[in-house]
This record gives sequence, C-alpha cells and structure tokens, in this order.
Amino acid sequence: MQIGIVAPGRDVRNWSSAISRHSGIEVQVWPEVTDPHKVELAIAWNPPPGLLAKFDNLKLISSLGAGVDHIISDRQLPDVPVVRIVDENLSRDMSHYILMSILNYQRGTYRHFLNQQIRHWENSKNPNRNLKVGILGLGVLGKAVSKMLVYHGFKVIGFSRSPKTIEGVISYENQEGLRTLMSEIDILINLLPLTRETKGILDMKLFAMASRPFYLINVARGGHLVESDLIKALGQGLLTGACLDVFDEEPLPANSPLWDHNDILVTPHVASITNPDTVVAQILDNYHRVKEGRELINQIDLQHGY
Ligand code: NAP
Ligand code: GLV
Repeated sequence: MQIGIVAPGRDVRNWSSAISRHSGIEVQVWPEVTDPHKVELAIAWNPPPGLLAKFDNLKLISSLGAGVDHIISDRQLPDVPVVRIVDENLSRDMSHYILMSILNYQRGTYRHFLNQQIRHWENSKNPNRNLKVGILGLGVLGKAVSKMLVYHGFKVIGFSRSPKTIEGVISYENQEGLRTLMSEIDILINLLPLTRETKGILDMKLFAMASRPFYLINVARGGHLVESDLIKALGQGLLTGACLDVFDEEPLPANSPLWDHNDILVTPHVASITNPDTVVAQILDNYHRVKEGRELINQIDLQHGY
C-alpha cells in the first residue's frame, strides 16, 4: 500500500514528512508515482481530471483541505468515498482572518495605510459600532466564525440549507431568507461550498438585494463570485469594498482588474491553510475505517456536492 499525493503546483514536502512521522507508509508525490496500482489512498488538491481514475486500486480520496469542489468536479472520478478535512486549527485560522478583515474595514486600516504613504493625517471617522454581519454557510467554518463574531459583540445573521440553532445568531434558509439577510447586513461573508447550486451566487442579483452598501468578504471559492458584477456593483455604490482571498483563476492573473481596484483587498488564498501535522492522523484513521468497512468521518455527500 502507498499514499499518493496529487497536488500540482503545491509544495507538499511538509505533507510527505508529516505522513512519515505518523506512519511507516510509503508516499509517492505525483507526477513521480512509479506504480499507480500500489496507491490505495490519494490525498488531492486540484488533481488533473482523469488522473485519480488511473489509480486502479484506490480505496479512498481525501481532500488536502476543507473544500472538495476541485476533486468532485472530475467527470472520471473513481467510485470510492471522498473525505475532507475538519480541523479546529482551520476553524481558528479562518475565524482570525475574518476578524482581521472586519476590524480592518471597521477601523479604516487601509485608508490609514494609504494616508501614511502620502504623510496625510486624517482621523475624523468614528468606527461604526453597530455592524451587522451576514454569513453565507453555517457549516464547520461558518459556525466557528459566527460564534467568534458574537463573542466580539457583532450582530450575526446566517444562511444555510437546513435550519441552525447557534446562540446569538439569527439563521435563515431558502431564497426568502437570503433576501431578508441581504436587506439587513453591513458585511457579507461567504463560507459556502462551491456546488451546482452556489456557483456564481455572489452576483448582481444578490448585490441588488442589499438595502444599503455593504462590504464583501469572500473566503470560500472564486467560482462563487461573478467578478465583473463585483466591479460593476462597486462602481454603482452597492458595495463599499471587498476583501477577496479566493479567485476563479489562482494565482490571480497579473492582468486582473481586481489587483488595482482601490476598494478591493486581495490576499493569495491564505485565510486558512491545512497543517498536515494536525490532520494526517484523521486521514489515516479514515483509511483504516474504509479498509475495515467502518463508517467514515467527514465524508462528502456526492449528491449535494459537499
Ligand atoms: P461545510 O461544513 O460543508 O459547510 C457548508 C455550509 O454551507 C453548510 O452550512 C451548508 O448548509 C451550507 N450550504 C451548502 N449548500 C448550500 C446552499 N445551496 N444554500 C444554502 N446553504 C448551503 O463547509 P466548511 O468546512 O464550513 O467550509 C466551507 C468552504 O470554505 C469550503 O468548501 C471551502 O471552499 C472554503 N474554505 C476556504 C479556505 C480558505 O483558505 N480560503 C479554507 C478552508 C475552507 P447545511 O448546514 O444545511 O448543510
Ligand atoms: C481551502 O481552501 C480549503 O478548502 O481547505
């Protein structure tokens, strides 16, 4: 048995060494997989379409992160279970990133930064202390973020497919709920998985539902956002700005207009990065479970796409 890591363009040396520290299992990193037949567990991030099907003895696919859109979009996906990462470090890092983004927005950090470049002193604005935050997606990460924001005194409204009970959080479902959420918020955070239903959800139609200009934080996937609609909506004053961590094409191409936009902050998909040391045990546990016919943890529902 071997573990195959398939993550083109990603430095996975820390993954190979974490697996060696946790087990004696041999690791092969694609494209240097010499015997695809020996690979029973694939750990994948953006695998080339059709590649996983070449591992003809595969028992399990694990995403290298929380999302699985980059795996299950493969039309030749082998008929084996797919699992993902759930890890409190991921939730904490995501919560910290969101808090940082909101506070930077609320306190005008980037205005101060730009003013510093031109030695300009401007301290006239009071922070808005009544910001209402909407969160699309109240799953593992959305829930952790919502609890953290409630703790810090923000009013929080969430949206998910099924109803949720989270202390201090108003939660909505369905289109009507989404409309209500949009009519109440000052900041919108996207933490949905990328699926058939959610692709392109951050578009002009949604932006126009807002009753006042709002700030967008997209930390889920680039495919959720219609970038041209964002630029249009910023121009029309429907949004006050945006913090974007994820993009349709990554790395964000040098000629993307998002780089130069004064009201857009770009970060390079760093909101919450999986630490192999804290998750290798759960991946190996799932491998043993699949071999022993036991129930898996964090398994993807391929029908729902997350
Ligand atoms: P999760 O636990 O699967 O939660 C997904 C949430 O979205 C659930 O609340 C689900 O509703 C809701 N949802 C799904 N489809 C929906 C729909 N059509 N309408 C309304 N709500 C819907 O996922 P997670 O672990 O929180 O992660 C969310 C995403 O964050 C990942 O898929 C990934 O793309 C992204 N991510 C980004 C980074 C980064 O560094 N930028 C890091 C980690 C993850 P139910 O609760 O009713 O099922
Ligand atoms: C990161 O984007 C993840 O899905 O873990």
